[in-house]
Amino acid sequence: MIRLEAIRKTFRSEFLRRKREVLRGLSFHVERGETYALLGENGAGKTTTMKILLGLVREDGGSAMIGGIPSTNPESRRRLGFLPEHPYFLPHLTGEELVRYYGRLSGLSAREASAATGRLLARVRLESARARRVRTYSKGMLQRLAFAQALVADPEVLVLDEPLSGLDPVGRKEMRTLLLDLKRKGTTILFSSHIIEDVEKLADRAGFLADGRIGLEADGEGNEWVEVFAEGIDAETAAAAEIEAERIAREGERLLITLRSERDLPRLRDRLRSRGGRIVRVEKRRETLEDLFVENILSRPGARDPV
Ligand SMILES: Nc1ncnc2c1ncn2[C@@H]1O[C@H](COP(=O)(O)OP(=O)(O)OP(=O)(O)O)[C@@H](O)[C@H]1O
Ligand SMILES: [Mg+2]
Repeated sequence: MIRLEAIRKTFRSEFLRRKREVLRGLSFHVERGETYALLGENGAGKTTTMKILLGLVREDGGSAMIGGIPSTNPESRRRLGFLPEHPYFLPHLTGEELVRYYGRLSGLSAREASAATGRLLARVRLESARARRVRTYSKGMLQRLAFAQALVADPEVLVLDEPLSGLDPVGRKEMRTLLLDLKRKGTTILFSSHIIEDVEKLADRAGFLADGRIGLEADGEGNEWVEVFAEGIDAETAAAAEIEAERIAREGERLLITLRSERDLPRLRDRLRSRGGRIVRVEKRRETLEDLFVENILSRPGARDPV
Protein backbone atom coordinates (compact mmCIF):
# COMPACT_ATOMS: atom_id res chain seq x y z
CA MET A 1 0.00 0.00 0.00
CA ILE A 2 2.90 2.30 0.87
CA ARG A 3 6.17 1.74 -0.92
CA LEU A 4 9.36 3.77 -0.67
CA GLU A 5 12.23 2.79 -2.88
CA ALA A 6 15.80 4.09 -2.64
CA ILE A 7 14.76 7.54 -1.43
CA ARG A 8 17.51 10.14 -1.19
CA LYS A 9 17.18 13.58 0.33
CA THR A 10 19.76 16.23 1.07
CA PHE A 11 18.92 19.50 2.78
CA ARG A 12 21.03 22.55 2.10
CA SER A 13 21.27 25.16 4.81
CA GLU A 14 20.45 28.66 3.66
CA PHE A 15 23.58 29.91 5.32
CA LEU A 16 26.82 28.73 3.60
CA ARG A 17 24.74 26.19 1.59
CA ARG A 18 26.04 23.42 3.79
CA LYS A 19 24.66 20.02 2.82
CA ARG A 20 23.05 17.54 5.13
CA GLU A 21 22.34 14.17 3.58
CA VAL A 22 19.36 12.93 5.57
CA LEU A 23 18.06 9.98 3.54
CA ARG A 24 20.49 7.78 1.65
CA GLY A 25 18.62 5.07 -0.17
CA LEU A 26 15.73 4.53 2.21
CA SER A 27 13.44 1.65 1.24
CA PHE A 28 10.54 -0.04 2.98
CA HIS A 29 6.95 -0.92 2.34
CA VAL A 30 3.74 -1.24 4.30
CA GLU A 31 1.25 -3.87 3.18
CA ARG A 32 -2.45 -3.13 2.94
CA GLY A 33 -3.91 -3.43 6.44
CA GLU A 34 -0.53 -3.51 8.09
CA THR A 35 0.66 -1.25 10.92
CA TYR A 36 4.29 -0.23 10.51
CA ALA A 37 6.31 1.75 13.05
CA LEU A 38 9.18 3.96 12.03
CA LEU A 39 11.78 4.18 14.79
CA GLY A 40 14.97 6.16 14.98
CA GLU A 41 16.89 8.71 16.98
CA ASN A 42 16.00 12.40 16.95
CA GLY A 43 16.97 13.78 13.58
CA ALA A 44 17.13 10.35 11.91
CA GLY A 45 14.71 11.45 9.18
CA LYS A 46 11.32 10.01 10.22
CA THR A 47 9.40 13.23 9.73
CA THR A 48 11.21 13.91 6.46
CA THR A 49 10.20 10.45 5.21
CA MET A 50 6.56 11.11 6.05
CA LYS A 51 6.65 14.54 4.43
CA ILE A 52 7.97 12.96 1.24
CA LEU A 53 5.01 10.56 1.27
CA LEU A 54 2.70 13.51 1.80
CA GLY A 55 4.26 15.45 -1.06
CA LEU A 56 5.33 18.20 1.36
CA VAL A 57 9.04 17.62 0.75
CA ARG A 58 10.41 16.63 -2.63
CA GLU A 59 12.84 13.72 -2.70
CA ASP A 60 16.11 14.06 -4.67
CA GLY A 61 15.91 10.49 -5.92
CA GLY A 62 14.01 7.25 -5.58
CA SER A 63 10.27 6.76 -5.58
CA ALA A 64 7.46 6.98 -3.04
CA MET A 65 4.09 5.42 -3.84
CA ILE A 66 0.75 5.10 -2.10
CA GLY A 67 -1.59 2.49 -3.52
CA GLY A 68 0.57 2.35 -6.63
CA ILE A 69 0.31 6.10 -7.31
CA PRO A 70 3.47 8.24 -7.01
CA SER A 71 3.34 10.61 -4.05
CA THR A 72 4.04 13.52 -6.39
CA ASN A 73 0.47 13.01 -7.66
CA PRO A 74 -2.12 14.44 -5.21
CA GLU A 75 -4.48 11.63 -6.22
CA SER A 76 -2.29 9.32 -4.07
CA ARG A 77 -3.60 11.15 -0.96
CA ARG A 78 -7.29 10.92 -1.74
CA ARG A 79 -7.94 8.37 1.01
CA LEU A 80 -5.11 9.37 3.34
CA GLY A 81 -5.26 10.87 6.83
CA PHE A 82 -2.23 12.67 8.24
CA LEU A 83 -1.35 13.61 11.78
CA PRO A 84 1.62 15.98 11.71
CA GLU A 85 4.39 16.19 14.29
CA HIS A 86 3.48 19.74 15.30
CA PRO A 87 -0.16 20.23 14.38
CA TYR A 88 -1.02 23.84 13.66
CA PHE A 89 -4.68 24.68 13.54
CA LEU A 90 -6.42 27.93 12.75
CA PRO A 91 -6.67 29.26 16.32
CA HIS A 92 -9.88 31.24 15.99
CA LEU A 93 -11.98 28.28 14.85
CA THR A 94 -13.81 26.10 17.35
CA GLY A 95 -12.86 22.43 17.51
CA GLU A 96 -16.07 21.52 15.76
CA GLU A 97 -15.60 24.06 12.97
CA LEU A 98 -12.07 22.91 12.45
CA VAL A 99 -12.80 19.20 12.06
CA ARG A 100 -15.74 20.00 9.79
CA TYR A 101 -13.48 22.23 7.71
CA TYR A 102 -10.96 19.41 7.25
CA GLY A 103 -13.82 17.09 6.33
CA ARG A 104 -14.95 19.52 3.62
CA LEU A 105 -11.34 19.86 2.39
CA SER A 106 -11.23 16.07 2.06
CA GLY A 107 -14.27 16.13 -0.20
CA LEU A 108 -17.12 15.34 2.21
CA SER A 109 -20.47 17.03 1.67
CA ALA A 110 -21.58 19.54 4.34
CA ARG A 111 -23.92 16.98 5.85
CA GLU A 112 -21.31 14.18 5.82
CA ALA A 113 -18.71 16.50 7.34
CA SER A 114 -21.05 17.50 10.19
CA ALA A 115 -22.00 13.91 10.94
CA ALA A 116 -18.38 12.71 10.88
CA THR A 117 -17.29 15.64 13.06
CA GLY A 118 -19.84 14.86 15.75
CA ARG A 119 -18.89 11.20 15.73
CA LEU A 120 -15.15 11.83 15.92
CA LEU A 121 -15.23 14.54 18.56
CA ALA A 122 -17.14 12.09 20.73
CA ARG A 123 -14.63 9.35 19.91
CA VAL A 124 -11.64 11.46 21.00
CA ARG A 125 -13.60 12.79 23.99
CA LEU A 126 -13.61 16.43 22.99
CA GLU A 127 -17.36 16.68 22.87
CA SER A 128 -17.57 19.10 25.78
CA ALA A 129 -14.90 21.35 24.22
CA ARG A 130 -16.43 21.29 20.74
CA ALA A 131 -17.62 24.92 20.85
CA ARG A 132 -14.40 26.31 22.33
CA ARG A 133 -11.85 28.08 20.19
CA VAL A 134 -8.84 25.95 19.35
CA ARG A 135 -6.42 28.50 20.82
CA THR A 136 -7.77 27.71 24.28
CA TYR A 137 -7.01 23.97 23.90
CA SER A 138 -4.27 22.31 25.94
CA LYS A 139 -1.49 20.34 24.22
CA GLY A 140 -3.21 17.01 24.83
CA MET A 141 -6.52 18.40 23.57
CA LEU A 142 -4.80 19.59 20.39
CA GLN A 143 -3.39 16.11 19.92
CA ARG A 144 -6.89 14.63 20.23
CA LEU A 145 -8.17 17.20 17.78
CA ALA A 146 -5.38 16.20 15.41
CA PHE A 147 -6.67 12.62 15.59
CA ALA A 148 -10.22 13.74 14.79
CA GLN A 149 -8.92 15.82 11.89
CA ALA A 150 -6.88 12.93 10.47
CA LEU A 151 -9.81 10.52 10.67
CA VAL A 152 -12.66 12.72 9.52
CA ALA A 153 -12.84 11.42 5.95
CA ASP A 154 -12.58 7.74 6.96
CA PRO A 155 -9.12 7.20 5.45
CA GLU A 156 -7.76 3.89 4.16
CA VAL A 157 -4.21 4.94 4.93
CA LEU A 158 -3.01 6.81 8.00
CA VAL A 159 0.34 8.53 8.36
CA LEU A 160 0.88 9.57 11.96
CA ASP A 161 3.98 11.42 13.16
CA GLU A 162 4.38 10.67 16.89
CA PRO A 163 0.62 10.33 17.41
CA LEU A 164 0.82 9.50 21.11
CA SER A 165 3.12 12.28 22.24
CA GLY A 166 1.79 14.98 24.50
CA LEU A 167 -1.02 12.82 25.91
CA ASP A 168 -1.55 11.93 29.55
CA PRO A 169 -1.54 8.19 30.41
CA VAL A 170 -5.31 7.92 30.05
CA GLY A 171 -5.25 9.79 26.74
CA ARG A 172 -2.44 7.61 25.46
CA LYS A 173 -4.38 4.50 26.29
CA GLU A 174 -7.55 5.88 24.69
CA MET A 175 -5.80 6.89 21.47
CA ARG A 176 -4.00 3.56 21.38
CA THR A 177 -7.36 1.79 21.63
CA LEU A 178 -8.65 3.99 18.83
CA LEU A 179 -5.68 3.00 16.67
CA LEU A 180 -6.18 -0.68 17.49
CA ASP A 181 -9.83 -0.35 16.37
CA LEU A 182 -8.73 1.22 13.09
CA LYS A 183 -6.15 -1.50 12.65
CA ARG A 184 -8.83 -4.14 13.17
CA LYS A 185 -10.94 -2.40 10.54
CA GLY A 186 -8.11 -2.90 8.07
CA THR A 187 -6.67 0.62 7.93
CA THR A 188 -3.06 0.75 6.75
CA ILE A 189 -1.06 2.68 9.33
CA LEU A 190 2.44 4.15 9.22
CA PHE A 191 3.47 5.85 12.44
CA SER A 192 6.59 7.08 14.16
CA SER A 193 7.20 6.88 17.87
CA HIS A 194 9.88 6.99 20.52
CA ILE A 195 7.77 5.01 22.96
CA ILE A 196 8.72 1.37 22.53
CA GLU A 197 5.76 0.17 24.59
CA ASP A 198 3.36 1.79 22.13
CA VAL A 199 5.20 0.26 19.21
CA GLU A 200 5.04 -3.20 20.78
CA LYS A 201 1.32 -2.83 21.39
CA LEU A 202 0.43 -1.45 17.96
CA ALA A 203 2.87 -2.38 15.25
CA ASP A 204 2.94 -5.51 13.12
CA ARG A 205 6.44 -4.55 12.00
CA ALA A 206 8.95 -1.90 12.91
CA GLY A 207 11.79 -0.41 10.90
CA PHE A 208 14.85 1.27 12.43
CA LEU A 209 15.90 4.35 10.53
CA ALA A 210 19.60 5.09 10.95
CA ASP A 211 22.22 6.62 8.66
CA GLY A 212 19.52 7.50 6.18
CA ARG A 213 18.10 4.05 5.59
CA ILE A 214 16.19 1.24 7.24
CA GLY A 215 18.98 -0.77 8.83
CA LEU A 216 16.83 -3.37 10.51
CA GLU A 217 13.23 -4.53 10.47
CA ALA A 218 11.62 -6.53 13.25
CA ASP A 219 8.25 -7.95 14.21
CA GLY A 220 6.24 -5.62 16.41
CA GLU A 221 6.90 -7.65 19.53
CA GLY A 222 10.63 -7.99 18.98
CA ASN A 223 12.22 -11.38 18.41
CA GLU A 224 11.43 -14.59 20.22
CA TRP A 225 13.18 -17.89 20.15
CA VAL A 226 13.46 -21.07 22.20
CA GLU A 227 16.67 -22.59 23.53
CA VAL A 228 16.61 -26.34 24.12
CA PHE A 229 19.33 -28.20 26.01
CA ALA A 230 19.64 -31.89 25.16
CA GLU A 231 21.72 -34.77 26.47
CA GLY A 232 22.59 -38.22 25.20
CA ILE A 233 23.17 -37.09 21.63
CA ASP A 234 26.12 -35.49 19.84
CA ALA A 235 26.08 -32.73 17.25
CA GLU A 236 26.73 -35.08 14.31
CA THR A 237 23.87 -37.39 15.22
CA ALA A 238 21.61 -34.38 15.75
CA ALA A 239 22.60 -32.97 12.36
CA ALA A 240 21.91 -36.34 10.74
CA ALA A 241 18.47 -36.42 12.39
CA GLU A 242 17.45 -33.52 10.16
CA ILE A 243 16.36 -31.38 13.02
CA GLU A 244 15.03 -28.11 11.72
CA ALA A 245 16.77 -25.74 14.08
CA GLU A 246 18.13 -22.25 13.74
CA ARG A 247 21.36 -23.33 15.30
CA ILE A 248 22.88 -26.39 16.96
CA ALA A 249 25.91 -25.90 19.20
CA ARG A 250 27.79 -27.84 21.85
CA GLU A 251 27.56 -26.47 25.38
CA GLY A 252 29.88 -28.61 27.50
CA GLU A 253 28.32 -32.07 27.67
CA ARG A 254 25.07 -30.81 26.30
CA LEU A 255 23.74 -29.73 22.98
CA LEU A 256 22.14 -26.30 22.67
CA ILE A 257 19.45 -26.28 19.99
CA THR A 258 17.85 -22.97 19.05
CA LEU A 259 14.33 -23.06 17.66
CA ARG A 260 12.38 -20.22 16.07
CA SER A 261 9.17 -21.13 17.83
CA GLU A 262 7.75 -23.36 20.54
CA ARG A 263 5.66 -25.04 17.88
CA ASP A 264 8.75 -26.95 16.71
CA LEU A 265 9.29 -28.44 20.16
CA PRO A 266 7.18 -31.66 19.97
CA ARG A 267 8.81 -32.65 16.68
CA LEU A 268 12.27 -31.99 18.10
CA ARG A 269 11.45 -34.10 21.15
CA ASP A 270 10.45 -37.05 18.92
CA ARG A 271 13.51 -36.74 16.71
CA LEU A 272 15.85 -36.59 19.69
CA ARG A 273 14.19 -39.54 21.38
CA SER A 274 14.47 -41.69 18.27
CA ARG A 275 18.27 -41.07 18.33
CA GLY A 276 18.69 -41.76 22.02
CA GLY A 277 18.75 -38.13 23.15
CA ARG A 278 16.51 -36.28 25.56
CA ILE A 279 15.59 -32.74 26.39
CA VAL A 280 16.80 -31.59 29.80
CA ARG A 281 15.85 -27.92 29.73
CA VAL A 282 13.80 -25.50 27.62
CA GLU A 283 14.18 -21.74 27.88
CA LYS A 284 12.05 -19.18 26.12
CA ARG A 285 14.13 -16.20 25.11
CA ARG A 286 12.94 -12.86 23.99
CA GLU A 287 14.72 -9.83 22.71
CA THR A 288 12.44 -6.85 23.02
CA LEU A 289 12.21 -4.11 20.46
CA GLU A 290 14.04 -1.93 22.93
CA ASP A 291 16.98 -4.34 23.04
CA LEU A 292 17.05 -4.46 19.25
CA PHE A 293 16.81 -0.70 19.01
CA VAL A 294 19.62 0.01 21.44
CA GLU A 295 21.79 -2.73 19.91
CA ASN A 296 21.17 -1.36 16.45
CA ILE A 297 22.16 2.13 17.45
CA LEU A 298 25.22 1.20 19.49
CA SER A 299 26.57 -1.26 16.93
CA ARG A 300 26.78 1.33 14.19
CA PRO A 301 30.14 2.75 13.21
CA GLY A 302 30.46 6.17 14.80
CA ALA A 303 27.89 5.30 17.43
CA ARG A 304 27.93 7.47 20.48
CA ASP A 305 29.91 6.31 23.46
CA PRO A 306 27.57 5.32 26.22
CA VAL A 307 27.93 7.85 29.02
N1 LIG B 1 13.50 21.94 5.96
C1 LIG B 1 14.69 21.52 6.43
N2 LIG B 1 15.83 22.18 6.14
C2 LIG B 1 17.02 21.74 6.57
N3 LIG B 1 17.20 20.63 7.31
C3 LIG B 1 16.12 19.93 7.63
C4 LIG B 1 14.80 20.30 7.21
N4 LIG B 1 13.91 19.40 7.68
C5 LIG B 1 14.64 18.49 8.38
N5 LIG B 1 15.96 18.80 8.35
C6 LIG B 1 17.04 18.00 8.95
O1 LIG B 1 16.88 16.66 8.56
C7 LIG B 1 17.22 15.79 9.62
C8 LIG B 1 16.04 14.84 9.87
O2 LIG B 1 14.96 15.56 10.43
P1 LIG B 1 13.57 14.88 10.77
O3 LIG B 1 12.68 15.95 11.28
O4 LIG B 1 13.13 14.11 9.59
O5 LIG B 1 13.99 13.87 11.94
P2 LIG B 1 13.08 12.94 12.87
O6 LIG B 1 13.58 11.55 12.71
O7 LIG B 1 11.66 13.18 12.60
O8 LIG B 1 13.48 13.44 14.33
P3 LIG B 1 12.59 13.59 15.68
O9 LIG B 1 12.61 12.24 16.33
O10 LIG B 1 13.36 14.59 16.48
O11 LIG B 1 11.23 14.07 15.30
C9 LIG B 1 17.59 16.65 10.80
O12 LIG B 1 18.99 16.75 10.83
C10 LIG B 1 16.97 17.99 10.46
O13 LIG B 1 17.72 19.05 11.01
MG1 LIG C 1 10.15 13.92 13.68
